[in-house]
Amino acid sequence: MRAPDFVEIEVARRPGELITYNHAALVSALGGTDPACVAVETDGLSRALITAYRRPPLENLRYARPEDLVMDADGYITVGRHHDGAPARMRLYEPGSGAQRGALFGTTGAGKSRALQLVLAAEKRSRIVSWLSDLKGGQSVPEARGQVDWRATTEQDAMMMLRAGLCLVMVRTERYARLGRSYFVIGDPDPLVSIRIDEANRLLQEGSVYRDEAAFLIKEIGRLGRSVGVGISIAAQAGHIEELGGSDTLRAMLKEGDVVLLRWSSNMMAALVSDGLLPLGADLVPIPRRSGPPVLRSRFERTGNEVPGTSTAGQAYLLGSPRPTALMRFFRVGSPVPVNGLDPAIVDLYGPGEPARLEAASVDYVGPAYAARGGPVTVHDTAAAFAVAEGLEDAGVDPASAAYLAGPGLTPPGPAPAPTDPATPTLDPTAPGAGLMPPPSKGKGAPSTRSRILAALADGPLNKHDLQAKVNADGGRQVRNIAPTLSEMKAHGELEQPERGLWALPAAPSDD
Ligand SMILES: Nc1ncnc2c1ncn2[C@@H]1O[C@H](COP(=O)(O)OP(=O)(O)OP(=O)(O)O)[C@@H](O)[C@H]1O
Ligand SMILES: [Mg+2]
Repeated sequence: MRAPDFVEIEVARRPGELITYNHAALVSALGGTDPACVAVETDGLSRALITAYRRPPLENLRYARPEDLVMDADGYITVGRHHDGAPARMRLYEPGSGAQRGALFGTTGAGKSRALQLVLAAEKRSRIVSWLSDLKGGQSVPEARGQVDWRATTEQDAMMMLRAGLCLVMVRTERYARLGRSYFVIGDPDPLVSIRIDEANRLLQEGSVYRDEAAFLIKEIGRLGRSVGVGISIAAQAGHIEELGGSDTLRAMLKEGDVVLLRWSSNMMAALVSDGLLPLGADLVPIPRRSGPPVLRSRFERTGNEVPGTSTAGQAYLLGSPRPTALMRFFRVGSPVPVNGLDPAIVDLYGPGEPARLEAASVDYVGPAYAARGGPVTVHDTAAAFAVAEGLEDAGVDPASAAYLAGPGLTPPGPAPAPTDPATPTLDPTAPGAGLMPPPSKGKGAPSTRSRILAALADGPLNKHDLQAKVNADGGRQVRNIAPTLSEMKAHGELEQPERGLWALPAAPSDD
């Protein structure tokens, strides 16, 4: 009789004792040689399912098909298979609740961009409005061109997209409040919008001029966008929150969102656990770079044609799913052999026709940045920024927020808003106290935040906190969050950071 293709063993410890294991020791105890042939799922408590396979279970997974990618009534698409062959599904929408937020982590070549491409194709086929920032200059997800509603390929455009994204959240919040609606229904009246940023670490890592503002915008869109159908998700190499905009900003959002963990590097795992994104004790079988048993070969036996095993790219854990510890693999995407230029197999996956577009009712409010997406409007285009601000005000959004979004240095005059923690400015237009204030005066009368910062630094360097306090003590309008203006001024050479945490006027050029 033929031996079975797999053996499943259910193990349990006594109540009160937790399951922990050493994968290599387990493989060896089972008499195996290839760690990829042994899958372990735990319940995080005292029970585990061990499956020993004759062949690595996810080695020859098929290609994605269009029918996998149409969202079902519960908002799920099928993105691949678990090790036991069960469909691996990701949620794009939660009926009765709204948009999703999440992250895709993995080391170089782990399969982040392919997985993203799969999801983007699913969004197009499901009539979801996709806004994509591909921060490798458009090289990570090139086939998305023309298949998404907005494709940004530079950090400046990505910032415009995030600002417009938060505008959209506020405009919809306002509109739904008028309709007496407190939740989002897909297509009634608006489409689901999904903002995705590949290589998000380029915006969020230390040294990026956009770090603070990007972290803030992503967090706010994640927090407020859910119930108005605006979701946000990032893909990044980093696993450490420190590399993603700083300690607490994104942690909460990521914890509540759908985290997908592709192959990780050794320090990533420790960081994920210490950041609280992975529960302590949630053991995951590591994903090696290549599958196949490690082979020891004596110098007398070398043949010169050792086969190095196959790539494990695309293998992952869906940490936000009902089976967080079950190894899965994303379906293959693209041609079997690399092609020059756009991959026709990937283009086909998106399907024919135009992608879904943002609803007309919001287009005017997200303004020229959206209208000219990919075009000449940039972060520094003041006229465009004013138009965004005015659009938001027409929609009844707190002008302080609107001016902030439109860009630093454009802050409106008027009565000081109720004191808030400067680190957490409220952009929620429905928040108590976020009443209407006079429209911006286009910077004519009152001094700009920029010039007030320059004045405050005349006596010497200050840290951000003291600087903000000094600016706010000069009798002018209260600035809620000074960080974006500082970043922008640094980018323009108007300010320097002589050392970490300290802001100063640029050193005067020497006279020789
Ligand atoms: N699901 C998959 N099945 C099989 N092979 C895959 C899968 N996903 C990705 N690959 C292979 O791995 C390669 C790298 O994938 P991808 O570019 O998505 O990685 P990445 O994580 O985005 O890398 P980088 O950090 O360099 O951007 C792909 O070119 C493809 O050959
Ligand atoms: Mg990539």
